Amino acid sequence: MAGMSSACRKVIASGKTLALVPTMGYLHEGHLSLVRIAQKKADVVVVSIFVNPTQFGPGEDFESYPQNTRADLAALREFDIDFVFTPDRRAIYPENFQTYVNVALLTRTLEGKTRPDHFRGVATIVTKLFNICRPDFAVFGQKDYQQAEVLRKMSEDLGYPIKIVIGPTLRESDGLAMSSRNSYFTPSQRREAVCLYRGLQAARKEFRSGNRSASELKRIVRTRARKICRGRALDFDYVALTDRHTLTPLKKAQKGAVLSVAARVHGVRLIDNIIL
Ligand code: PAF
Repeated sequence: MAGMSSACRKVIASGKTLALVPTMGYLHEGHLSLVRIAQKKADVVVVSIFVNPTQFGPGEDFESYPQNTRADLAALREFDIDFVFTPDRRAIYPENFQTYVNVALLTRTLEGKTRPDHFRGVATIVTKLFNICRPDFAVFGQKDYQQAEVLRKMSEDLGYPIKIVIGPTLRESDGLAMSSRNSYFTPSQRREAVCLYRGLQAARKEFRSGNRSASELKRIVRTRARKICRGRALDFDYVALTDRHTLTPLKKAQKGAVLSVAARVHGVRLIDNIIL
């Protein structure tokens, strides 16, 4: 950790700009697209790989979260990344660790309702990464829209001079948002996993044809998704239409609002969103 920190200080002292791409590994094209954005933004890129225990709640998949550091390093080699940071868990969270970062309001809704301490863990690890690397830019994916907004607020409130960059969601050829958790599906389950995106697409079509009712758009997401994934195989957590910055619920849809969905699809918890 001290090595990473002093390497980044040297970069900064040399007058070069630095971009950080925080990840939990098991890299897919979605992550790599964030790396490409980082390379365009800054002279030097750091990709961190760390499965952060504090953002997983009890009963979540921390123990089984997919990992393949060797494949990750091979994928990153193609990009000629300057630094890959794979800190040790004890270095990040030494014994008797007890200091956390909490973004109070933005975390009360959507993911925060179901996963109460999730964003506290995310904000804490990202603060630690910011302190170690002192980047000019930090790049996150739109798929985790709330996460990106929480981190933007955290960065602003704590006074980090860091530009938070949000890269678009990358999708498989059928539209399923890329995610490390997609690896949990069997092939037949995987075919149905696209149901959430199909729901979002149907709602967007309705919005474009003039329907501004949030409740109807949300109903369309559910109904369309259920046509693909039936019965207990699809268990919605929420479908929400919110303001893109405050994340407060909207009754009337407007351009730029965020339509988000979270559900268990064949037991795998997926999230997705689109900006109307
Ligand atoms: O989006 C993720 O993969 C994680 O939440 C992050 C930002 C790397 C923090 O652990």
